[in-house]
Amino acid sequence: PSLSEVLNLHDFEAIARKVMQGKAWAYYSSAADDEIAIRENHAVYHRVWFRPRILRDVTRVDWSTKILGQFSSMPLYISATALGKLGHPDGELNLTWAAAKHNIIQMIPTLASCSFDQIVDAAAPGQVQFLQLYVNKDREITKRFVQHAEKRGIKGLFITVDAPQLGRREKDMRMKFEADDPAEVRENDKQGDVDRSQGAARAISSFIDPGLNWGDIPWFQSIAKMPLILKGVQCWEDALEAYDRGLAGVVLSNHGGRQLDFGRSGLEVLVEVVEKFGEKRGISFPNEKFQLFVDGGVRRASDVIKAVALGATAVGIGRPFLYAFSAYGLDGVDRALQILNDEFEMNMRLLGARTIKEVVRDMVDASSIHTH
Ligand code: FNR
Repeated sequence: PSLSEVLNLHDFEAIARKVMQGKAWAYYSSAADDEIAIRENHAVYHRVWFRPRILRDVTRVDWSTKILGQFSSMPLYISATALGKLGHPDGELNLTWAAAKHNIIQMIPTLASCSFDQIVDAAAPGQVQFLQLYVNKDREITKRFVQHAEKRGIKGLFITVDAPQLGRREKDMRMKFEADDPAEVRENDKQGDVDRSQGAARAISSFIDPGLNWGDIPWFQSIAKMPLILKGVQCWEDALEAYDRGLAGVVLSNHGGRQLDFGRSGLEVLVEVVEKFGEKRGISFPNEKFQLFVDGGVRRASDVIKAVALGATAVGIGRPFLYAFSAYGLDGVDRALQILNDEFEMNMRLLGARTIKEVVRDMVDASSIHTH
């Protein structure tokens, strides 16, 4: 179908499934075990309802915001997803270019198919990028990578903490990852021994350190000045620990359902985190000093707005952009962002919120989300 027939982010998934190579589709779409977590990620948004306000002058509405102090045209960012070249020869650069055009932030993955420098070089002047970090058993490699990233102007470091071992993604495991695969990543090549017999995910992840722990946090704080965020927090206890240790925020996420199956969706965790921070530390959200992010299953601007109303600074979106560039290249990602932008305009008006600050807790009914 032509791009003008693509009306929402779900459409990209249906089209990608038909046009993508089996191996790439398996890697992008797969999730852990019985794929229950991924199923709930989007479904949980269906349990939150709006309480719109009327008779406010909504001639002009503005949904731009700041994420870690950086301007963003929408309260969302492109989350890190590995192996962009499996879907399209330009890989992650499709995301960089579209992010520049729409003034949104791209989180560069450690396991990008394009090199880190290539992705930074492709950015427009002043374009903001974050970095997702998988921590190497060899801390010298990690230190060099982080310090290089900081020198290159990266504005936030998202340390992935939910992947001491890769989840079993059986769809992906049934595919063999070829040695000469064009998407083979440099970062991993440096690590040597790679087992390619069990799918893309297994092949690229052997260097990740399962020994990573809270005691490593001061070390990260000593090697980097940029904001440090933990990606993959799943309960209020760990969010509170991150706050107490002086981190800049957390991403409440189950890794798109790809790690621990039955890990709750980020939105669900958000509700308990906000409640407990109020109770235990007397702070409320959104909060500039400690920012909460959510990802997993976000497919509509209305989903984003629900997370913002519940206290998130912004949300991450992964697969829809992969599906968009796999099917249509840069134009697909451009279209996906335009669709979200149009959805924001309508939803803000119909909600009676003229700015992101006016998207408040009372605009949603989340009573069917129970907290721990
Ligand atoms: C991911 N994600 C991810 N996260 C991370 O920290 N490092 C990584 O290398 C990857 N790689 C990756 C590959 C693919 C194909 C997917 C789909 C996801 C997780 C990603 O950052 C994010 O948490 C989820 O994708 C969000 O869920 P949705 O938007 O895909 O539903």
